[in-house]
Amino acid sequence: MKDFDLSEFENKVLLVTGGTGTFGNAVIKRFLTTGIKEIRVFSRDEKKQDDMRRFYKNYKLKFYLGDVRDIESVRKAMRGVDYVFHAAALKQVPSCEFFPMEALKTNIFGTENVLTAAIEYGVRKVICLSTDKAVYPINAMGMSKALMEKVIRAKSRQVDPEKTTICITRYGNVMASRGSVIPLFIRQIKSGQPLTITNPKMTRYLMTIEEAVELVLFAFEHGDPGDIFVKKAPASTIGDLAQALKELFNADNEIRIIGIRHGEKMHETLLTKEEHIVSEDLGDFFRVPMDKRDLYYEKYFEEGEMDLSRYYDYTSENTTRLDLEGTKQKLLECEYVRQQLSTKEYSEPSF
Ligand SMILES: NC(=O)c1ccc[n+]([C@@H]2O[C@H](COP(=O)([O-])OP(=O)(O)OC[C@H]3O[C@@H](n4cnc5c(N)ncnc54)[C@H](OP(=O)(O)O)[C@@H]3O)[C@@H](O)[C@H]2O)c1
Repeated sequence: MKDFDLSEFENKVLLVTGGTGTFGNAVIKRFLTTGIKEIRVFSRDEKKQDDMRRFYKNYKLKFYLGDVRDIESVRKAMRGVDYVFHAAALKQVPSCEFFPMEALKTNIFGTENVLTAAIEYGVRKVICLSTDKAVYPINAMGMSKALMEKVIRAKSRQVDPEKTTICITRYGNVMASRGSVIPLFIRQIKSGQPLTITNPKMTRYLMTIEEAVELVLFAFEHGDPGDIFVKKAPASTIGDLAQALKELFNADNEIRIIGIRHGEKMHETLLTKEEHIVSEDLGDFFRVPMDKRDLYYEKYFEEGEMDLSRYYDYTSENTTRLDLEGTKQKLLECEYVRQQLSTKEYSEPSF
């Protein structure tokens, strides 16, 4: 794990919307041992909150039941907050595909509510979590996240930057988050079933949840209003991913190709070429500044971008490609995979 200076959080109140999810739990684990004053977890389901209350047993954690679609419930959680990590979302491609209006209400209107309340209460910094699926979106989840990004950037143009800074982070697949392919493959391996692969040549970025938290902390430290931050990440093919897991688990399950599913892409993109060209390369991260031009349209025709050297998308196909061995090493960075290797029984990722 990278060292970040967390002293800015000393004695501060952090609100994590969607705090009962995979990201929320990783943030809590990272912060509970720091000098933070309070972490507010905001979400809808009381059962997940109750499980967390019992698990962490920590007085710094405060639980707020509410729904980002209901601004009054957001306002109740926002009073006295210094910083917000906005992670609440509908993020599963198939469910959003069948219920696109639900994605719209949570991911777009919900985000607008969180930002409105944060600005009203003078929150200093808000970091909003987006996804690679928001880039050239082809499914309802990605489309709703793409519009969420537009809402965030529009809001950051309106707000006084001396009062509230709002930034976006974008990342790709988090290994072994709930509903993702790694727990599915492990379950299939352990129950002796074939591993169901959409297309062996499909590529996906691979990132640990700790790296997702680091991206958010980096944006927190370095972000100007409306910035988008992207963590550079390696990728592997789904074929290599399945084979790497089979080898790690010493398994000989058959691999069955089932074909690409609703709303899936062969390769994911973290930066469009237009973003790539204006981005700042910060080593492990890209920073895409907000386009500060105003609605004075002539400027759009008079001022173009000259540097064509990075005129290509940054995708899971052209990023660093992990081979089989590299994929195995990356998988071993994931706590869930290590835990599953140490036991015969299958269990879902806990958070
Ligand atoms: N996991 C990934 O692979 C991945 C990749 C890229 C980006 N991201 C982004 O990272 C963020 C966090 O993802 P995650 O993996 O932590 O997701 P997650 O585990 O599914 O958690 C989502 C959280 O949002 C809450 N939530 C959902 N709808 C809500 C609503 N209407 N009001 C309030 N809370 C609501 C959920 O709790 P309740 O159900 O109890 O309300 C849960 O706490 C999301 O914005 C996601 O798009 C994730």
